[in-house]
Amino acid sequence: MWGLRPWYGRRSRAVAAPLLLVVALMVCCSGLWAFTAISPQTGCATGSSCHMKDGSARQVFAGHSVGIPQRVNADSVEMRSGMHLGPLGPRALKGLLSLGVVWWIINKAKVWLETPSRPYSSDTNPEEGANSVRAEYDTWTKEGVLEHYWGEHIHMGSYDMTKQTGYNKNDPVVLAFLRATFGHMDDFKAAKFQFTDEMLEWSGATAPKKILDVGCGIGGTTRHLAKKFPDAEITGITLSPEQVNRATNLAKEAGLTNVKFQVTNALDMVFEDNTFDLVWGCESGEHMPDKQKYIQEMSRVLKPGGNMVVATWCERDPDPIFTLEERTTLKYVYDEWSHPYFISIGRYAKFMEETGVLEKVETDDWAEQTLPSWRHSIWVGVWSPWYWMKVTATRPKAFLGFVRDAYCLERYHRAMKRGLLTYGMMKAVKKA
Ligand SMILES: C[S@@+](CC[C@H](N)C(=O)[O-])C[C@H]1O[C@@H](n2cnc3c(N)ncnc32)[C@H](O)[C@@H]1O
Repeated sequence: MWGLRPWYGRRSRAVAAPLLLVVALMVCCSGLWAFTAISPQTGCATGSSCHMKDGSARQVFAGHSVGIPQRVNADSVEMRSGMHLGPLGPRALKGLLSLGVVWWIINKAKVWLETPSRPYSSDTNPEEGANSVRAEYDTWTKEGVLEHYWGEHIHMGSYDMTKQTGYNKNDPVVLAFLRATFGHMDDFKAAKFQFTDEMLEWSGATAPKKILDVGCGIGGTTRHLAKKFPDAEITGITLSPEQVNRATNLAKEAGLTNVKFQVTNALDMVFEDNTFDLVWGCESGEHMPDKQKYIQEMSRVLKPGGNMVVATWCERDPDPIFTLEERTTLKYVYDEWSHPYFISIGRYAKFMEETGVLEKVETDDWAEQTLPSWRHSIWVGVWSPWYWMKVTATRPKAFLGFVRDAYCLERYHRAMKRGLLTYGMMKAVKKA
């Protein structure tokens, strides 16, 4: 139980443990230097030269007058800190200045982190620039970092909460880090397969012959379904041409012939009405600028009697009305990863019912079992830093993006833990 997970690796621990120790020591030392204590014997400040009435001078360090016996009291002091700055004198001032600079840097970093950098923009408004969803997924796919750490599935994992010592949702971030390091967590990539299997079971689909994966990423789920249903024909659609290329290559490598990928907008699909037995949308609804159209289009192409299943990040019901702080958090989580906005699970259910062609509409919130994913995403990067370091070496600016992503993951964790965000699961059957 106290062994690290395989993806941390012995090499990672061997390097990371001494590194952690050095960082901890540096933090302690800087705290000591910044400590501008006054000597209880003489009243002189740390870093000053303390001039005694007998003509001698003493240095004061961390609140102790070096070389001054206990019996010496403040009356014996001729001059104190600030009047004469000996060789150690400026240290107190430097300490204070350093604190000021550190405080300023922390504030600047916070503002930088809190200002979203990748807001949603669509094709329809030329002033907004290129479609940000396509652009972001193209970049991520070419870069390969997401695929390296997340594998072929770009969605949350599902975790067995009874078996893990490496996770407690109420942990503050440092304790969470230690627990994830020394405890046990489900394998990060395996948890994603687990999620897909649970979603399939929940969908109620048993033997679909034609499947549509709406917003397929690089096709991890699409290929998983293709293997599960070898007699089925499966199509994955995405906005990103880079994802289509990568997904197609991975399918070839896997020797799959019953799966294909294409660039198609989910809000304006090229497929005939009543085509698919199973329509699957996993974490693509977040990016849709028109969620109602998203549901309508999926129900249009679904065959009568077919199953629709949607998994997507949602926000809580807007009653009670969102506070200013909640709105600020929501704005951040939308804008950092190119989401136009989220809606509640209830609103999705309403959109499904309003199609008039769907029945047996059911919803659930899977926030509990998917919550470990957020921080787990951070820890895989911390304990296996080699890949992002390699990318940083060739493109140093990429590092800032990784820092932003880690911060954003933590913000999502917190928003979902407190219930501001929810993990929406929606399913329905098309009326026969
Ligand atoms: C988080 S990824 C989901 C990946 C995938 N479902 C999986 O299981 O790995 C979001 C996907 O939705 C796609 N997407 C977003 N908006 C879309 C739209 N309007 N039409 C088609 N795909 C879209 C993106 O291109 C991306 O592939």
